[in-house]
Amino acid sequence: MKTFKRTTITSALPYANGPVHIGHLAGVYIPADIYARYLRLRGEEVVYIGGSDEHGVPITIKARKEGLRPQDIVDRYHSIIKKSFEDFGISFDVYSRTTSDTHKQVASEFFRSLYEKGKFVEKTSEQYYDAEAGQFLADRYITGTCPHCKNEAAYGDQCEQCGTSLSPTELLNPKSAISGSVPVMRETKHWYLPLDQYQDFLSDWILQGHKEWKPNVYGQCKSWLDMGLQPRAVSRDLDWGIPVPVAGVEGKVLYVWFDAPIGYISNTQEMCAAQPEKYGNWERWWKDPETRLLHFIGKDNIVFHCIVFPSMLRAEGTYILPENVPANEFLNLEGDKISTSRNWAVWLHEYLEDFPGQQDVLRYVLTANAPETKDNDFTWKDFQARNNNELVAIYGNFVNRALVLTQKYFDGCVPALGALDDYDRQVLADCASIKEKVETLLDSFHFRDAQKEAMNLARIGNKYLADTEPWKVVKNDLKRTGSILNVSLQLAANLAIVFEPFLPFSSEKLRRMLHLNALVWRDLGRTDLLPEGHRLAAPELLFEKIEDNRIEAQVKKLQETKHANESSEYRPQPQKADVSFEDFTRLDIRVGTVLDCRKVPKADKLLEFRIDDGMGGRTILSGIAAYYPKPEELIGTQVCFVANFPPRKLRGIDSEGMILSAENPDGSLTLIQPKKELSNGAAIV
Ligand code: 2FM
Ligand code: ZN
Repeated sequence: MKTFKRTTITSALPYANGPVHIGHLAGVYIPADIYARYLRLRGEEVVYIGGSDEHGVPITIKARKEGLRPQDIVDRYHSIIKKSFEDFGISFDVYSRTTSDTHKQVASEFFRSLYEKGKFVEKTSEQYYDAEAGQFLADRYITGTCPHCKNEAAYGDQCEQCGTSLSPTELLNPKSAISGSVPVMRETKHWYLPLDQYQDFLSDWILQGHKEWKPNVYGQCKSWLDMGLQPRAVSRDLDWGIPVPVAGVEGKVLYVWFDAPIGYISNTQEMCAAQPEKYGNWERWWKDPETRLLHFIGKDNIVFHCIVFPSMLRAEGTYILPENVPANEFLNLEGDKISTSRNWAVWLHEYLEDFPGQQDVLRYVLTANAPETKDNDFTWKDFQARNNNELVAIYGNFVNRALVLTQKYFDGCVPALGALDDYDRQVLADCASIKEKVETLLDSFHFRDAQKEAMNLARIGNKYLADTEPWKVVKNDLKRTGSILNVSLQLAANLAIVFEPFLPFSSEKLRRMLHLNALVWRDLGRTDLLPEGHRLAAPELLFEKIEDNRIEAQVKKLQETKHANESSEYRPQPQKADVSFEDFTRLDIRVGTVLDCRKVPKADKLLEFRIDDGMGGRTILSGIAAYYPKPEELIGTQVCFVANFPPRKLRGIDSEGMILSAENPDGSLTLIQPKKELSNGAAIV
């Protein structure tokens, strides 16, 4: 296997048009952070590059909706995103943005360099143009009728009703979303990266040279290559982005997917310029064949990082290519796809409001459920179970018992290690073997399994204490008690090291409790990390139990989102044919108070209401039992009813009217009830 001197780690630059959520963290930022922390702990030369992706059409759409400039939108979200990453301990060496001056310059120079080397092909094509607004229209800015499902609000790139991908010319009755006018076709010139010319190079480099890539990544690349690559436009007619740096060209910008990956390079340059003593010259991180480049991304970004960006780097000619692109699949939330527009997400800043100081719990759960090989699901129940049954009951409990017992019996000083029995030797051997196991897994990007191994060590320690029961042994053998605690404390010190890449906040807390100096990876597996007599700090709890009510609150929050989405998606039934005012006045609708309400025996759906109608009272049956499981709670409330229905016999009971309900999006019914108390018998007019 090839060896490298240093590693450049990048993680996808998130779009600055919304905050970041658990899906981002699980798929991209946590794995990249674990890897960066692991290499740093090993003392390797590594940088971890991040930043916000601040161009592209969706940002302009959001700005237009809010009546703001695109710059205002990206300023807002860049700060929110940056803070969320800091709060969760994502250890970027730099976190910059693609609207920075450095980036504008670096991306322009990159384009110029390819332009001057003749690496682009220029093509003229016809595209929709809004003559009233005087601009070409991005696909998202064209709406019209979907040719498949006839949805009248389909976009030029997709119909959100039937999910079909569209091209703007397929839309029936196209309209500009900017002025509402009918767009016209107009010729426009763009620069294309002729990916077809890189087909052979990419096939050799990926399909032959990188068989070790994750199957999901390798498979996606293979299917793109099998289909045959086509030239891709790298410019757009848009007024938000980096202007195409060619003399005489106006109103055209670099395509967001051309400039965004160059952001990794510009951000590295900013980092090196800010701290040259620490990082040296930026080119070492991008142009030295002894540097290993790794891109951490989600599966939707595979083609850009494995095919488009490497072709750009290759065309430029002086850059290294990625050595690996460990892309993940997607994380779902409670069984549904995470969606920013439907607010179906756990936002990182909101998580921290509800679970302050509990970053590591989320980090742990997201790694335990990381969508490494297939889409995975996050549920609040699982979050609670992993916290309570693993972090608290195993890791936290073990460390706490080891420290508290040392405090109690040895005044907080590490006791001597006496004669060892077989069990002690086994536990110490398990500890000594952890380093190699976790390294093998981390080196091959198996973060879930690596974390599982770390937790296993805590499990071994926890069982060891439960089996050896030092709190009983102490009654007649203080020396033996000391040995058990010595072994346990060595294990705890190892846990601080092995968990550092995964749970950095807890490792730091544990390091302080153990009064250890800096944690270093090469110490992992050593069973003499804490010398006899070494004084420990006062023990504190590493993790706290999460009670049911906090989980229920989160589930409720999601249910409310679901209901809000359903009602906003609710399409009312088509309006019925017109009626005359006379038709309406023939209906006698009134208000009455429920005197009694109960289920009709042997009828699943029916409730029997006794109503004070101000006219001597009446009985009405209504088919809403399924929606009111506690009918007695309706007693004393007011309802509305049609009074002049002829009586009908249902289940042997005379029903004298009809109670009014409204239909919800899911088909359930809710009674129409006056907000203010009215006189019984009051007519609705
Ligand atoms: O999919 C996304 O969120 C993109 N903003 C990722 C860009 S990655 C890189 F190229 F910058
Ligand atoms: Zn459709």
